[in-house]
Amino acid sequence: MARPRKPAGPLLPPDLPPAPPPVGPEIVRTGAGASSGDSVLSPRPLGDEEEVLVPSLRPRRFPEFIGQRQIVEKLQVFIAAARQRGEPLDHTLLLGPPGLGKTTLANVIAAEMGVQIRITSGPVLTRAGDVAALLTGLQARDVLFIDEIHRLNKSVEEVLYPAMEDYHFDVLIGKGPTARSLRLKVQPFTLIGATTREGDVAAPLRSRFGVVSRIDYYTTDELIQLLHSVSRRLAFPLEEAAAGEIARRARGTPRVAIRLFKRMRDVAQVDGRPAITPATVERGMEMLKVDRLGLDYIDRRILEVLLRRFDGGPVSLDTLAVSVGEEPDTLYDVYESFLIQIGFLARTNRGRVATRLAWEYMGLKPPADRVIDDPQKRLFTDEG
Ligand SMILES: Nc1ncnc2c1ncn2[C@@H]1O[C@H](COP(=O)(O)OP(=O)(O)OP(=O)(O)O)[C@@H](O)[C@H]1O
Ligand SMILES: [Mg+2]
Repeated sequence: MARPRKPAGPLLPPDLPPAPPPVGPEIVRTGAGASSGDSVLSPRPLGDEEEVLVPSLRPRRFPEFIGQRQIVEKLQVFIAAARQRGEPLDHTLLLGPPGLGKTTLANVIAAEMGVQIRITSGPVLTRAGDVAALLTGLQARDVLFIDEIHRLNKSVEEVLYPAMEDYHFDVLIGKGPTARSLRLKVQPFTLIGATTREGDVAAPLRSRFGVVSRIDYYTTDELIQLLHSVSRRLAFPLEEAAAGEIARRARGTPRVAIRLFKRMRDVAQVDGRPAITPATVERGMEMLKVDRLGLDYIDRRILEVLLRRFDGGPVSLDTLAVSVGEEPDTLYDVYESFLIQIGFLARTNRGRVATRLAWEYMGLKPPADRVIDDPQKRLFTDEG
């Protein structure tokens, strides 16, 4: 994965002063922990924690891959059929918010196909030559995994199109009048693309994928199952009731669930408990300032700014991002998609709008002149 990794932040986010009445014009980042990439709840990877230090936490085959039954069943059929024919799996596009298992699934697909996987990402492939080298190095039926595929540039896309369709591409040799084009063959392969930004995948690229799967947030039951499996693999017991408490705060996201498990294990260990109990979780979540819905201080800051300063919106993504001191991209991928999922926020064609649920949850009253019916229904949504 090419997303720049930030070093893991401190365990505890800085304490915010208790909800200051009307949020003032300047919101200051307080220390390193204030950056969203450092939040324990960020579904983005904070480091190589899951993948490298504890490689066994990543499911390798379908039976270990929890949830997403519809996607898994569909893929199992397509893989079985492709294997019978001795062909590569059709090109597959995996969509969904960070931390839900796109990279994991790509690895599982390659393992189930019994082939090698080559891993790269959109921002890394800058020149046509980069992708050409990768393509010519593939063996028959191999998987080429391109993460953040929405960030490919035009010249790379133009090499990919014929390679995906007809397993060849043309390279230009030389310059000026003596330049000539050379056609190179590629072994039949599977391109697996992953993206958190469905709307940003170029239409001609998207249309070349035979399988498109949207990975959705996990249910609490699925996350409980995941937590028990992590507990077994890390050999640290987890009480049933505690599993539920962690799962409910994990934002429907395996990466967050695993990270919360590890922090709760720290607390249990330091408290001298042999297992994670509901009391451990209560104390741990209080320390992390993670509330019963899994919102942390950044989510609450976003909601506060939206409600108090902008009267619940509509406000543009960029304005909201500047006001809370986050990058628009981070706000979009990491925070907003979850706030929308739990029905606190809506993306409308006029900007971001808080829903009635958000006002109620934050214990605030909308201004008297403000009518909040359900903005999701009232306005069409857009991606801006
Ligand atoms: N269905 C699943 N069953 C078990 N573990 C899972 C599952 N999905 C994800 N995980 C675990 O969650 C972690 C995050 O998954 P992964 O890295 O595949 O997410 P991603 O969608 O690729 O995220 P990003 O968009 O940030 O690249 C992995 O370390 C993996 O162990
Ligand atoms: Mg990934």
